Amino acid sequence: MSERTPMIEMRSVSKHFGSVIALSDISMQVYSGEVMCLLGDNGAGKSTLIKTLSGVHQPTHGEMLLGGEPARFKSPAYALDAGIATVFQDLAMIPLMSITRNFFMGREPTVGWGPFKRIDWKLADRIAKQEMAKIGIDVRDPSQPVGTLSGGERQCVAIARAVYFGAKVLILDEPTSALGVKQASVVLRYIAKARADGLAVIFITHNVHHAYPVADAFTLLKRGGSLGTFRKENISREEVLNMMAGGAELESLDAELAEFQRSDSEKNADTEETATASKTRLAAGQ
Ligand SMILES: Nc1ncnc2c1ncn2[C@@H]1O[C@H](COP(=O)(O)OP(=O)(O)O)[C@@H](O)[C@H]1O
Ligand SMILES: [Mg+2]
Repeated sequence: MSERTPMIEMRSVSKHFGSVIALSDISMQVYSGEVMCLLGDNGAGKSTLIKTLSGVHQPTHGEMLLGGEPARFKSPAYALDAGIATVFQDLAMIPLMSITRNFFMGREPTVGWGPFKRIDWKLADRIAKQEMAKIGIDVRDPSQPVGTLSGGERQCVAIARAVYFGAKVLILDEPTSALGVKQASVVLRYIAKARADGLAVIFITHNVHHAYPVADAFTLLKRGGSLGTFRKENISREEVLNMMAGGAELESLDAELAEFQRSDSEKNADTEETATASKTRLAAGQ
C-alpha cells in the first residue's frame, strides 16, 4: 500500500486549561473516505480534542495539519473556511428559523447587485429541499421552522450543510446520543454517505452499535492521553465496547444478567424435571 497523506492530522498536541491538562501529547491521523471513532470515558478529552481541531481552542503544544499542510485556526469560522465542519454536542441551530435559513446560515445565494442585491429565497429553498432529499429526508416546505423537524433530521440539516459547502472534514460530537433507534439510523446512514463521498469523518459516540458499523478506525482517549489507534480489522465489537464510556460496567451488567438468566433457566429445568418425574410416577401408578 502506498503512503497516503492524512486529510487531517494531530502531531503531539497538548491542551492545558490553567493547571488542567485536558489533552497530552496526542497524535492522530484521519484519512479521506474514512470514519474515525473517538472513544473514552466522560472527561477523557474527546470534546476538547475536536474543539482544538475546529478552532474553538488553540493547542498549547504540538501541531495540526490539513491535507499535509500545517494548519492553525483562530476560530471555528476559519476552520470552516478551510473545510472543517463541526456539529457540536450542543447543536448550533435556531429552532424558530426556517430550515432554509439554518441550512445556509448567512451564506444564502443572492440575486442582483449593489443596492439591489437580495437573497434569492426561491433558489435557497430549492437547494435546501434538494440537499435534504439526497439523504432521504422529504422536506415538504423548507420555509417551515427547523424546530418542526425531529432530532435526527435536525442533525442531518447540519451535516447536509457541511457537505453542500464542500467540507473535507466532518466532525460529529455525539450526534446520535439523544436519538431513538430510527432517528439514529438516519444519522448513521448519512455518516456512511459522507464517508462514501470522500470526507474524513471524526465521530464521537458512546454507543457501540452506532460506532462499529460505520467506523474504519478507533482512537481511545484516557485522561487526556491517547492509548492508540486501532484499525477495525484488528479489534472486535466487544473490545470497542470495553473502551467506551461505561463499557466495563455494561459488560459486568451483561455478565450479571446472563447469570440471572442461567439460574432462572436452571430453576425452570429443575421444575420441569420434578414435573416429568411425578408424571412418570403417576403413569407407573406409584
Ligand atoms: N474550557 C475548559 N476549561 C477548563 N477545563 C476544561 C475546559 N474544557 C474541558 N475541560 C476539562 O478537560 C477535561 C476533558 O473534558 P472533555 O474534553 O469535555 O471530555 P469528554 O468530551 O471526553 O467528556 C475535563 O477534565 C474537563 O473538565
Ligand atoms: Mg464531550
